[in-house]
Amino acid sequence: MASIAHSAILIGLFFVDRVICQRPTSTTTTTIPWTGISVTSTTITPCTGPATVVIETPFQTPACSSTPLPVRPAPCETLPDCQADGLNIDYYSNPVGGYGSGNLPPSYYITQGLSPLASSLTNVTFFPQDMPPDDPAGWTRDTNGGIIVNANNFTLVYYGFYLAPSTGLFTICSSSDNENDVFFGQGNAFSCDNGKPSADATPLAVSNGGFYEDPINCTDVYLTQGRYYPVRNVMGNYGGPSAFNFTIWEPGVPWENRTHDLAGDVYPLSCGWFSLSKAQS
Ligand SMILES: *[C@@H]1O[C@H](CO)[C@@H](O)[C@H](O)[C@H]1NC(C)=O
Ligand SMILES: *[C@@H]1O[C@H](CO)[C@@H](O)[C@H](O)[C@H]1NC(C)=O
Ligand SMILES: *[C@@H]1O[C@H](CO)[C@@H](O)[C@H](O)[C@H]1NC(C)=O
Ligand SMILES: *[C@@H]1O[C@H](CO)[C@@H](O)[C@H](O)[C@H]1NC(C)=O
Ligand SMILES: *[C@@H]1O[C@H](CO)[C@@H](O)[C@H](O)[C@H]1NC(C)=O
Repeated sequence: MASIAHSAILIGLFFVDRVICQRPTSTTTTTIPWTGISVTSTTITPCTGPATVVIETPFQTPACSSTPLPVRPAPCETLPDCQADGLNIDYYSNPVGGYGSGNLPPSYYITQGLSPLASSLTNVTFFPQDMPPDDPAGWTRDTNGGIIVNANNFTLVYYGFYLAPSTGLFTICSSSDNENDVFFGQGNAFSCDNGKPSADATPLAVSNGGFYEDPINCTDVYLTQGRYYPVRNVMGNYGGPSAFNFTIWEPGVPWENRTHDLAGDVYPLSCGWFSLSKAQS
């Protein structure tokens, strides 16, 4: 009974509508966003009252700057049975007001053919900020690999291979007082052919600091597990206090677990499978 009565009411309404329906004499306009890429409009004409014009405009989304593909540095071949003895570290002289001030490029030690004042191996790529003593004459500081430098002005070059412990996106970060230039991969850090760095290489990341402010600069690289990647840091202090931090953040670990203690993952340059004929020429 109830449904019959309901149908009767609906049929009644239908006939009533047919009778009173008329063309709308006014419109209202409403604008809504939609997922299309162009503006469209739809007019809804009811039986009574004003027509409604619906204008559909594309969603306003901020223009996406296309995220750059991560750099894929190329690895080198290494000698079998090479030991993770650490990175090479070489200490070079750096004139006051030299590398780190913008007056000398990170290639100055190559182009000037400088010989290291001291050399060692290190797994650690960090030394803390120091403060000048009251009398800076003869001021020295400990750095890495047991190398003690003239604290006021010096350059340290860290180089060798990083054995990627997993595959994926690694984030390499650096902070320094006054400057560290990060070179990574075949040809950039050094040649896989002869182990020599190029004076023309453009660093992947540069960190500049001073006056106890050492902002961090990071860059992403995509690496493959088990491959040996050339790495080179050119760290310089052109005068006064100094600091250095070079870290590698592995995929799948928290940011806090990025490390500047690369023990087990870093190998000296002597591990490279270099072509003897080219190395000797
Ligand atoms: C420090 O700077 C002085 C003056 O520029 C320079 O003669 C000296 O060789 C530098 N020493 C080092 C270790 O960089
Ligand atoms: C970080 O390093 C890149 C590559 O050298 C450089 O273009 C950029 O200016 C650096 N950023 C800062 C904040 O120094
Ligand atoms: C991160 O470091 C903490 C503290 O050393 C350690 O407990 C944790 O297991 C590490 N996490 C990963 C994913 O390596
Ligand atoms: C240096 O790097 C470590 C990670 O290896 C980080 O925990 C620490 O905060 C950094 N220190 C400075 C002074 O930048
Ligand atoms: C670096 O770490 C490896 C592995 O722990 C160790 O065998 C090597 O002696 C360390 N090198 C230095 C210079 O401490």
